[in-house]
Amino acid sequence: MTWRDPLLVAVEGVDGAGKTTLIRGLETLLRPLRGSRPARVTADIFRAIAEPDDTVLYQSVVPGPVRRLAHLVELSAQLHYRSGPGGPPDLLFEGWVQSWEVRCGPYGEQHRGWLEQLEDLLPRPDPLLWLRVPPALAYERMIARGDRRTRVLTPAALRARLVRQAGDYEQVMARADNVVELDGTQPPDKVLAQAAWALEALTRARLTRPGPGEPGTGQRPGNASGPAG
Ligand SMILES: Nc1ncnc2c1ncn2[C@@H]1O[C@H](COP(=O)(O)OP(=O)(O)OP(=O)(O)O)[C@@H](O)[C@H]1O
Ligand SMILES: [Mg+2]
Repeated sequence: MTWRDPLLVAVEGVDGAGKTTLIRGLETLLRPLRGSRPARVTADIFRAIAEPDDTVLYQSVVPGPVRRLAHLVELSAQLHYRSGPGGPPDLLFEGWVQSWEVRCGPYGEQHRGWLEQLEDLLPRPDPLLWLRVPPALAYERMIARGDRRTRVLTPAALRARLVRQAGDYEQVMARADNVVELDGTQPPDKVLAQAAWALEALTRARLTRPGPGEPGTGQRPGNASGPAG
């Protein structure tokens, strides 16, 4: 791996955590640094059918494994078909497989094997940025934004959904690789600075890293609270 290898950056967090905002910031930041425009990827097919509540027509009748599969197919397609003039661009993903785990519920035993095998075929984002915010703050941000879900769900249902998501993220992120925690309670510019610091550390590590397979690969970088204080 070198500086020139495309970055695969994914941002995870509860609804309203600030993922889109951070990705927009990263897009602007990375362009001059990396010399090409990163591709911003939102798993739209997934978003449309994966949410377990009835915020989109017919969601409740789509079985969990099918919703998960839609997300996986979309991630794979996005990875496969993206290309740019200077080769594959850096990819900024809003949501990774953790989105799917948190929003579609646990694997049914019947489908665990094949879903896990398919998931193993995906590369690992490096880094997987985890925007961590308390559910109450995510709720306030969704209200302020006038989010569709604030109209479809009762306040109590939306709060409960965010509390459940936050709890689930604590569990799924503990099992994920290459996680960098970001303090999402800070203002957007500070959150972006945390992410930039993590990416800088990563590219520095890539430049000095020994060959693939040697010690020093695949370790968990820890949290990125350094520059923001
Ligand atoms: N760091 C921040 N500080 C304050 N407000 C923020 C911050 N980040 C985002 N916001 C605001 O919070 C709202 C939700 O942000 P955003 O749409 O980026 O979240 P999201 O995680 O992408 O949500 P969703 O899960 O619905 O896609 C927006 O109105 C945005 O302007
Ligand atoms: Mg978003």
